[in-house]
Amino acid sequence: MRIRTFDEYQTAYQKSVDDPEAFWAEVAQNFQWRKPWTKTLQWNFTDPDVKWFVGGKLNITENCLDRHLAERGDQPAIIWEPNDPNEAGVTLTYKMLHDQVCRFANVLKRNGVVKGDRVCIYMPMVPELAIAVLACARIGAVHSVVFGGFSAQSIADRINDAQCKVVVTADGAYRGNKEIGLKSTVDDALIGCPSVQKVIVMTRTRTPVSMLKGRDVWWEQELKQVTADCPAEEMDAEDMLFILYTSGSTGKPKGVVHTCGGYMVYTTYTFQNVFQYEPGQIFFCTADIGWITGHSYIVYGPLASGATSMIFEGVPTYPDCGRFWDIVDKYKVNILYTAPTAIRSLMGFGLEKVENHDLSSLQVLGSVGEPINEEAWYWYNDHIGKNRCPIVDTWWQTETGGTLISPLAGITKTKPTYATLPLPGVQPVLVDENGKEIEGNGVSGNLCMKFPWPGILRTTYGDHERCRQTYFATYPGLYFTGDGCLRDKDGYYRITGRVDDVLNVSGHRIGTAEVENAINMHTGVVESAVVGYPHDIKGQGIYAYVITESGASSHDEDLTKRDILATVSRIIGPIAKPDKIQFVTGLPKTRSGKIMRRILRKIAEGDTSNLGDTTTLLDPAVVDDIKAGAI
Ligand code: PRX
Repeated sequence: MRIRTFDEYQTAYQKSVDDPEAFWAEVAQNFQWRKPWTKTLQWNFTDPDVKWFVGGKLNITENCLDRHLAERGDQPAIIWEPNDPNEAGVTLTYKMLHDQVCRFANVLKRNGVVKGDRVCIYMPMVPELAIAVLACARIGAVHSVVFGGFSAQSIADRINDAQCKVVVTADGAYRGNKEIGLKSTVDDALIGCPSVQKVIVMTRTRTPVSMLKGRDVWWEQELKQVTADCPAEEMDAEDMLFILYTSGSTGKPKGVVHTCGGYMVYTTYTFQNVFQYEPGQIFFCTADIGWITGHSYIVYGPLASGATSMIFEGVPTYPDCGRFWDIVDKYKVNILYTAPTAIRSLMGFGLEKVENHDLSSLQVLGSVGEPINEEAWYWYNDHIGKNRCPIVDTWWQTETGGTLISPLAGITKTKPTYATLPLPGVQPVLVDENGKEIEGNGVSGNLCMKFPWPGILRTTYGDHERCRQTYFATYPGLYFTGDGCLRDKDGYYRITGRVDDVLNVSGHRIGTAEVENAINMHTGVVESAVVGYPHDIKGQGIYAYVITESGASSHDEDLTKRDILATVSRIIGPIAKPDKIQFVTGLPKTRSGKIMRRILRKIAEGDTSNLGDTTTLLDPAVVDDIKAGAI
């Protein structure tokens, strides 16, 4: 399964294209299956219908836990670093993690969860979050983790979409110097969620919470009622493992569905090869388990590999901007995987807090979530990697399950800002607007995939047609990523960003339509249009053009802006708050009523010199007004 040289990469890649089924069947031999599959792959991108390891039976937790017990039962599986550096951390060996997962799986059962039920998890970054995730997988329940920064409304939308039966949460969460009430947010959400029968609440902050009789139970008390004996449920390779909601260019977030077999094989294969993980190394992925990066590269990929994976509860700037380096030094982290936005924000604080830490344990650095600009790449390389750690710029998506394009650490020659080459099994193509493949090198276009890999999404929960429309209809026969991309003269890929109406703010995906809907719910707002603009730290900032009933100048703008931000926070969460709000009297619309976002984007970028053709606009004069009022 492990590639060790560039020649081996090329051989593996060739084989994966010539005979994908044989290639993946060989990789999949490295896992524990209860029953072997009868057909490696069945697929078409029209319906779409993709099935890997058809007829195979397994349980992913047997691969992540049980099979390691004999050989490395006493090795740390999870090392947890709390928000407060003065609080004691927790190390869970594989034995301990296995024990705790089995116990909590029994708690879920006790509370009525059976195979196939959906469980919403809304928790801080504590070991219990990983335990809850794995406990669901143990009994065949489908987890839907909701990032702890989302609002009650967002939780309710996700719970209702998936018809979750149980919610697992905590009283509260610590993030930097803030204490955030999680249970109270869940309580607000559940007012509109009739499917939820039980709420299991873990104690973290001891914030006072209200516990509803018959519905709410304490994690710790429940644990006293169960044993550690919980045989794993036998799952079909194509049974659902989890749902994870992500934003698109239209409508509400959709529930991306991943299944047991293919996802396990793909995350593990990519974890080991991209990072070149060696047994005993400490792997630190700074993402939250609420996002796909945490699912694939804190929980499943590392644990299925028998690795030691860190969970960090806090933020990079608390108690000061040296926190990551403090953690690297304290635990002798070997592989650090973080996002460009974190690098850019830490760069701004200078080198003092970097240089007073010993970073010599680091061997590999990773980047994920958004394009990494050159300045950040070099800073990461020079000051963190000290010019001796390869940087793997991993490009992938919630929908892809694991990394698709990335260097293999120390094997693929890197190039700043390039995700470089496709991993074995990945067949990228660039297409023009008409879906025509652009061949050769030194070209750019829209990035698509022409063949399935085991980690590809199978559907969007409850709405297969939406999955087809979003990913497989734009360019028939291809999976469309939504990203623009260039392939340079060496065949190296560089992702240039989204080509649809999806923003990437601090590595978080946010749909412009979602933010607009939230703004439009604010009293007095008539209409709004949201675009992204380049932001030094966040990568992209959110710029909102808003029309209010009372007009732009007749009221206290600052107060209205503040209130609109509060509404967006309440509807989606603080991550979706616009950075800039401009009140306008009209929006540039075509005669058919379509907003010309291209113009709004240019104005938000501060580039008003060439707005292109505005003659098709219903009222070209609005453009001048907007230009005049730009922030
Ligand atoms: O635009 C790409 C960007 O993030 C999008 C996927 O977001 P999400 O599903 O939230 O998953 C993020 C973590 C995998 C992509 O469509 N993106 C992700 N990684 C990179 C990237 N853009 C450039 N370079 C990357 N390494």
